[in-house]
Amino acid sequence: MATAILYRSKHGTTLKAAQLIQAKLHDKIIDLYNLRHHRSLDIESYDTIIIGGSIHSGKLQSDLKRLMAKKQNELLSKKLGLFLCCMEEQPKSQHQFNQAFPEILRNHAVCKSIMGGEFLLEEMNFAEKFLIKKAAGVTNSISKLKLEEIEYFAAKVNAS
Ligand SMILES: Cc1cc2nc3c(=O)[nH]c(=O)nc-3n(C[C@H](O)[C@H](O)[C@H](O)COP(=O)(O)O)c2cc1C
Repeated sequence: MATAILYRSKHGTTLKAAQLIQAKLHDKIIDLYNLRHHRSLDIESYDTIIIGGSIHSGKLQSDLKRLMAKKQNELLSKKLGLFLCCMEEQPKSQHQFNQAFPEILRNHAVCKSIMGGEFLLEEMNFAEKFLIKKAAGVTNSISKLKLEEIEYFAAKVNAS
């Protein structure tokens, strides 16, 4: 059995989450694809597809959105997992999740997770640092990545 994890990550946090998921899955083949470098990806040979992205200024990465629209029917024929990295807490994070992933895919997915996020000041450009300091009062890098949520997500994919 084969799994593809398709992700987008601006500062590395979604990549970190994707790699942790990859390490915990039981399939023989588990390939990781940064959609930034794989614009026309063939997912036919995979049984399971996991899609992960992050929220920046309220939005999921647009190439993930495009992929989900273009491959919707194919995704509905696969075992599907969806995850999101973001810094907002409930209920705003759930709202962001619902905006990020189409309802039809959310209903089809065997697991859905909001995995928290990180503010990594050393990875941000000047404008991002300014925005984050102003909007969230953040002056030091912080991690709120939920490792137990990643564990739960991977266990659920393995069990489905
Ligand atoms: C400029 C900027 C804007 C952000 N906007 C949001 C937001 O609207 N909502 C949210 O929950 N998190 C927001 N975040 C937090 C990111 O979702 C968080 O940093 C996440 O871990 C980023 O993952 P990535 O490095 O994989 O892209 C923002 C972060 C930055 C740097």
